[in-house]
Amino acid sequence: MYKHLKKFIFKMDPESAHENAINGLRMADSIPLGKKVLNMMYGYENPMLVNKVWDIVFPNPVGLAAGFDKNAEVYIPLGLMGFGHVEVGTLTPLAQPGNDKPRCFRLKEDQAIINRMGFNNHGVQAAAKSLSHYQDACMPVGVNIGKNKLTPNDQAASDYEKCLEALYPYGHYFAINVSSPNTPNLRDLQEVDSLRHLLRTIRKKADQLEKYGAKRKPILLKVAPDMSDEHMSDVVYVALEEGMDGLIATNTTLSRESVSDRRLAKEAGGLSGPMLLPRATECVRDIYKAVGDKMPIIGVGGIFTGDDAYRMMRAGASMTQIYTSMIYVGPGAATEINKRLVQLMKRDGFTHISEIIGIDHK
Ligand SMILES: Cc1cc2nc3c(=O)[nH]c(=O)nc-3n(C[C@H](O)[C@H](O)[C@H](O)COP(=O)(O)O)c2cc1C
Repeated sequence: MYKHLKKFIFKMDPESAHENAINGLRMADSIPLGKKVLNMMYGYENPMLVNKVWDIVFPNPVGLAAGFDKNAEVYIPLGLMGFGHVEVGTLTPLAQPGNDKPRCFRLKEDQAIINRMGFNNHGVQAAAKSLSHYQDACMPVGVNIGKNKLTPNDQAASDYEKCLEALYPYGHYFAINVSSPNTPNLRDLQEVDSLRHLLRTIRKKADQLEKYGAKRKPILLKVAPDMSDEHMSDVVYVALEEGMDGLIATNTTLSRESVSDRRLAKEAGGLSGPMLLPRATECVRDIYKAVGDKMPIIGVGGIFTGDDAYRMMRAGASMTQIYTSMIYVGPGAATEINKRLVQLMKRDGFTHISEIIGIDHK
């Protein structure tokens, strides 16, 4: 069905299509029958896929990556569509419009996207309201946080603290985004000294919030794929030393290698989709080699099929996320990946998803 719908959807510009999807999901959320239909059409449950990570139960290992539900408006209906978790955001302390439009491009031949959205979002206060229902969702909700465009990097830590303070009671885990290529100089925060200062401040803030009675929430660092191996290894060690609970690898890439549409390749922004998959999988493999089971990894970047997700998990990811494949494959993408994962596990004689994590290294 999505094949036919996609022809119509792809006639709209990507942002209008996205707004329509959010509105449709909001509508489905407002009527009990709407939620039931979503769940009947796209939901999928299988005990082989249920896993506990950081003491949180995830119904399956395929989550929705940050950037789709930026304002935490539709995480409940998304959860009914077969996702094992939904990461909302990136949220910043103050609302901001993001970059000028157009800022999102479909590279159809490559099933890829280039975006330079620039953290357009309604700010943490509005998100806190929407997230106050997070426990009604049928899967865990992650909250991805960043800094406002106008906040200089030497004050960035205070933006992340503000986000944590406003949102800490809501959501099951937090993701620190220093890896978007679309906020000027944000990726400089991945430099070792800046990163150490930032993560130390964030850890301290979270410890403080816990002292005042908040439940401990895992804090993850989301990294870019464009670092050298040496830099990535430094980043991973800093994250470990500064008490991060996990890593998300990776964000979009600045690389345009093998992009077919050379005209669109010139658009500034981050590239996502299948071309990112080899690098994202390699990052997960290298990180797992360095940290083993000490710090769970969420693998993201170009996953379209169950085979992609299977490889990512064998390389060391405890879970995966998708974004671009949902645009090209449709709302059933997570369920298709999950069903294939089960097939592959059965083929290889595994009975539970936890058995495949990092198996390539063993
Ligand atoms: C339109 C768009 C917006 C995105 N916005 C965010 C964001 O706000 N924060 C973030 O951490 N990642 C964002 N991402 C990156 C995704 O979360 C993901 O890391 C990346 O797209 C790679 O996965 P994929 O190839 O499955 O899409 C965005 C991606 C796209 C395509």
